[in-house]
Amino acid sequence: MKKGKFGKYGGQFVNEILMPILIELEAAFEKHYPTSEFQEKLGGLLRDYAGRPTPLYYARNFSKLVGCQVYLKREDLVCGGSHKLNNALGQALLTKEMGKSRLITETAAGQHGLATVMAGNVCGLETEVFMGVKDMKRQASNVKRMKLLGAKVTPVDIGMGVLKDAVSDTLRKWTACSQTTHYLMGSTVGPHPYPEIVATFQSVIGTEIKEQILKKEDRPPDKIVACGSGGSNALGAFRAFIDNEDVKLVFVEGGGESLEADNSAAAFQVGKPGILHGAVMQVLQDEHGQIKPSKTRAAGLNYPGRGPEISALCESGRVKAYYAFDKEVFEAVKVMCRTEGLIPALETAHAISYMIKHKEEFEKGELVVLNYSGRGDKDLDAIMRYFHGA
Ligand SMILES: Cc1ncc(COP(=O)(O)O)c(C=O)c1O
Repeated sequence: MKKGKFGKYGGQFVNEILMPILIELEAAFEKHYPTSEFQEKLGGLLRDYAGRPTPLYYARNFSKLVGCQVYLKREDLVCGGSHKLNNALGQALLTKEMGKSRLITETAAGQHGLATVMAGNVCGLETEVFMGVKDMKRQASNVKRMKLLGAKVTPVDIGMGVLKDAVSDTLRKWTACSQTTHYLMGSTVGPHPYPEIVATFQSVIGTEIKEQILKKEDRPPDKIVACGSGGSNALGAFRAFIDNEDVKLVFVEGGGESLEADNSAAAFQVGKPGILHGAVMQVLQDEHGQIKPSKTRAAGLNYPGRGPEISALCESGRVKAYYAFDKEVFEAVKVMCRTEGLIPALETAHAISYMIKHKEEFEKGELVVLNYSGRGDKDLDAIMRYFHGA
């Protein structure tokens, strides 16, 4: 496989000013990541700061409801409330190795912005987070958290004021400050080497699942289910199992209100291969190749592209893509609250919704791991408004 290419997906379709910086980043990753010093530092932070390994929890009541055996991989228990810190800590350490002093990034749900400022503070790096104005409103609690931790949060009001626009703005700003500043990409998207770096740092999730499920059940799972947009929590969970075809892999994206025009974020259903943010991926676009806005109530899934690796895996059929509509997602939140006493992030609730929607298809002994990517504190207002109009 050519570096950075996943079949026809991936690549480096960027402004030539960015090319030397991407080459520097790739070289730094290849040099430092394999060393025992780097592994020790990262392993120590993941253990003592982030709280890894996260538990693999047997969800007895939810299992009864859906008719199979469901384990939740508890990424909501990572410090900060989601899987995003796994990658942020890795890239922050890499930034130190490159001798840079600042981090910039974008965020939608606020989870990645929060993880970046946490990792930045731990490693002694300044942090600036770009965030669409619409997302700043709907994820206000995470904006407060980021500011309290000392990040500069810069509103992005171009386009629709959502994640796609924040990524475009951050890439633009990066060209002017890349000597001192690392762009800490939050998902498995963007030009090579980002998709590879992010998936590598997130693959700790699947490595842990493999060990934990063997201990508990003495066999690999039959299926792993994860939600996603760019694909970082999904690939993190999937990578350790990709070669084992007996383990079915399911990816659930944001269906939004409906699959009709402009009401969805389901790029695997209504998108096509195209270029977005420096790489070829499956992307929502019009007949002229213009990127179309995505729509879902889950800010963290509201991105019109699927990363190159998850795009290739879905195209080959190794990963099956599904979607959940907003209405189903809110209902799934309620089900998880009532069965297991856990409030999931709206993003995570897409994976939960898949389980509920397909319960007739599961066999009793079937072993499913659901990657429980984050907790729902950030979504409380939206959830309460949905159910009570509060
Ligand atoms: C809790 C949670 N899950 C999932 C996602 C989707 O991102 P990814 O596809 O990179 O895992 C996000 C993004 O913000 C998130 O906050």
